Amino acid sequence: MTEVAKLEQQLLEFEQTASKSFAEAQTLADIESVRQEFLGQKGALTNILRNLSQIDKQDRPRLGQTANSTKEKLESLYLKRKSFLDSQELKEKLKTEKIDVTLPARGKKIGHLHPLTQILSEIESIFLTMGFAPFEGPEIESEYYNFDALNFPPGHPSRDEHDTFYTDVDPSIILRTHMSNMQVRIMEKSPPPLRALYCGRVYRNEEVNARKEVIHHQAEGLLVDRNVSFGQLKGTLNEFIRLLFGKPLKTRFRPDFFPFTEPSAELDSECPFCNGSGCRTCGNRGWLELLGCGMVDPNVLRAGHIDPEIWNGFAFGMGVERLAMLKYGITDIRHFFISDIRFLEQF
Ligand code: PHE
Repeated sequence: MTEVAKLEQQLLEFEQTASKSFAEAQTLADIESVRQEFLGQKGALTNILRNLSQIDKQDRPRLGQTANSTKEKLESLYLKRKSFLDSQELKEKLKTEKIDVTLPARGKKIGHLHPLTQILSEIESIFLTMGFAPFEGPEIESEYYNFDALNFPPGHPSRDEHDTFYTDVDPSIILRTHMSNMQVRIMEKSPPPLRALYCGRVYRNEEVNARKEVIHHQAEGLLVDRNVSFGQLKGTLNEFIRLLFGKPLKTRFRPDFFPFTEPSAELDSECPFCNGSGCRTCGNRGWLELLGCGMVDPNVLRAGHIDPEIWNGFAFGMGVERLAMLKYGITDIRHFFISDIRFLEQF
């Protein structure tokens, strides 16, 4: 037998065994390995074609053609069988994996603002409509703006309630203990009349429990004008409470003490949950403590380069977590900071 005839014979046999193997492949994995075996780069056909160099030049084109058409035939066999197996597998899947199209869709979870951010922007927008402009300031603060400028004398016992965090670098640099650090900062930059609202994070060196955290947020407002009265402070805050709780509530002002306001008061509102008759939220008192407020102390105006003979004003400051706890009936302040999705999802 000549080399050519031998090769032709080989090709014919190859075509037959390969066709049979393709036809017998039962799975997609099978057919891929059959393809590797016969048509792959290291497959049988490649081996046969390597011997093409050993035959006479004039016979090569004919043999090359035969080889090519064998290859094409096998490739189309492969594709046919593969698409058959594909559809088999799909049918099998449809039979075994039942989909209940009546189940509710899983849906995409869309995030939302943190409850504190939500109530903060509610507070801000209420005061914005009353003409209070937003301000921002530093959390890392000097003792001067946090205490001295606000009429806290050095060593005065009123500082005891504001224990904070100090640095080794400079003991007069602290973390602000309240938003009132902004009062003199704002006065220095904005000549009266002025209405300012500023909210942010404040720090206290407290023992943590359900009501107290080392970090909390405050919203504070400051108004400086001519002939400002305590009645205007009352009217402003009553309106704020009406808008925040969605209904007018009775309020009372209890005398209190802050070094930077004179007179100073604590504002209580009738408990919106029991309308004053006493419940768990208000500890059966019928009243809720909401915020501190008062008329700006003349010494603070002076520190802000404002003449107290011409100008006066009021300030009020509230704990944002406390308001959120009251508004949403949350019983533990620590929920706001531990990022538990089961808590956050409820808002
Ligand atoms: N800064 C006070 C506090 O942290 C609250 C306050 C603000 C009181 C403004 C009066 C006026 O308790």
